[in-house]
Amino acid sequence: MDSEQRRKRKRLGKPYLQPKFCSVRSLVVCLSFFVFLLFLSSNRFPLSPTSFRPALSSSPTFTLFYSAASNSILDSFGTRRQQRVSRVEERILFPDHVLLLVAGARIRQPALVDCRGETDEGFVLTTPAITAAQEVVRCPLPRSIQINPEKAKGIRVTIGYTSRNQKYPRRNALPSAARINSSKSRVQINRRRNELKKKKKKKHELCVCTMVWNQAPALREWIMYHAWLGIEGWFIYDNNSDDGIEEVVQELDLEGYNVSRQSWPWIKTQEAGFSHCALKAREECNWVGFFDVDEFFYLPNTFRQPQGLGFPGQNSLGELVANFSSSTSIAEIRTTCHSFGPSGLSSPPPKGVTVGYTCRLQSPERHKSIVRPELLDVTLLNVVHHFRLKEGYRYLNVPENIALINHYKYQVWDTFRAKFYRRVATYVVDWQEEQNKGSKDRAPGLGTAAIEPPNWKRQFCEVWDTGLRDFVLAYFADPATGIYELITGFLYSCKFFNDMK
Ligand SMILES: *[C@@H]1O[C@H](CO)[C@@H](O)[C@H](O)[C@H]1NC(C)=O
Ligand SMILES: *[C@@H]1O[C@H](CO)[C@@H](O)[C@H](O)[C@H]1NC(C)=O
Ligand SMILES: *[C@@H]1O[C@H](CO)[C@@H](O)[C@H](O)[C@H]1NC(C)=O
Ligand SMILES: *[C@@H]1O[C@H](CO)[C@@H](O)[C@H](O)[C@H]1NC(C)=O
Repeated sequence: MDSEQRRKRKRLGKPYLQPKFCSVRSLVVCLSFFVFLLFLSSNRFPLSPTSFRPALSSSPTFTLFYSAASNSILDSFGTRRQQRVSRVEERILFPDHVLLLVAGARIRQPALVDCRGETDEGFVLTTPAITAAQEVVRCPLPRSIQINPEKAKGIRVTIGYTSRNQKYPRRNALPSAARINSSKSRVQINRRRNELKKKKKKKHELCVCTMVWNQAPALREWIMYHAWLGIEGWFIYDNNSDDGIEEVVQELDLEGYNVSRQSWPWIKTQEAGFSHCALKAREECNWVGFFDVDEFFYLPNTFRQPQGLGFPGQNSLGELVANFSSSTSIAEIRTTCHSFGPSGLSSPPPKGVTVGYTCRLQSPERHKSIVRPELLDVTLLNVVHHFRLKEGYRYLNVPENIALINHYKYQVWDTFRAKFYRRVATYVVDWQEEQNKGSKDRAPGLGTAAIEPPNWKRQFCEVWDTGLRDFVLAYFADPATGIYELITGFLYSCKFFNDMK
């Protein structure tokens, strides 16, 4: 495993960080993000919910999940909300439907839920929900409003449900802080959008949406590595991290990576977050990938063949997707994942995950998708990272010799334990409930307890796979110190290039 056969290095890559240029870029991204916030912000109408008794059971944890993040679309509700009552907190407007985020509720009987729009004059319009699960309800927008959003001006949106009282079932509505009031901001947003269009030459070829929690230390390696492969824009959805992720994002942004952080404090709403992100990516990117911070693209064929005097791999993922940008049938590119185990380690690998983890399960598990956001179905519905595509479009499976994903899924115990806790929480209402036991998201043999299983560090190890590690060491590590420069934050290629006179 420790055969450190470093390849003959041919390091004539061009330094690709261009700080001056990039600071303009990040300003543009900031601006467009700000416009987006404007678009989403809704009026707050503090109703007095004291006499209101929700029929939906309320989660004991919901008061905990707000962060004081500065760029949250949800900030305005944040710290002030104390009352333990279910309430519609926020709405996201899609072209054809509205998504409501309901705090403090777990919706168990979607069929009994509808959406209602109420005007101050007491006019009520109800439509049955398209989907309702956990804290997310989606309802169609009436056609007249789709065509003429002006009509929705001032309408408050909430959800209706039937109370549990068997004898006297009653229709109730949740209190709501969400209003559709887009007429003004829509004008603003169009104006801003046009301004931005003028400034902006073109979209990023490839972006990423990802959901993180306390993964700041992993972010730099992941972003720098993938930027090398051609990813140009980063949407980081932050679910209540308290590990200094803001600083890491800021640093990377200053270094020229187009990174933005979106606070996303909702509990069971990963799919709503991805819809939200797809909407954002549609403005800024031709392609957008949905994958996690512990997943690394690996392009075996490309990495093996140094291209002339340059580095192999530079922009290879960008080129791969760009090759389908004018396709009239492909809207999604799927890449197979291999799950790596702790590879014999018992503490986090100091040179990064791509160098540290080298033993994996033999068979691939799942795949991840890169999609063209413009070709997603208008509903932007997605299930476990998968979107419905527009009619007439299909996905393409990338052959394994072209691209793979190294998923560093089972890391050293301390890292894994935190993730395990969160991951289970995403799929199971209470992670200690013995649900979802057969799910692929559970580590085999782990049960529901967060106790280190015996021999953890040697588990999930069926084949040694040092492909990505060899590539990274050969091209990104300083031969003298062995330090992997993607982590220390200074690309060796730049340094080497400058040292060459
Ligand atoms: C809509 O929003 C604007 C400000 O964003 C506000 O001035 C106006 O009163 C709102 N209209 C209604 C009907 O709520
Ligand atoms: C930031 O975005 C611009 C425009 O798409 C791109 O040219 C540049 O390479 C990106 N920066 C990085 C470090 O990816
Ligand atoms: C956000 O974090 C909470 C724990 O604070 C977790 O239960 C939930 O699943 C996470 N939500 C998403 C969308 O990942
Ligand atoms: C993209 O297409 C070009 C030209 O057709 C080809 O040379 C290149 O190998 C392709 N790149 C990838 C990563 O598939």
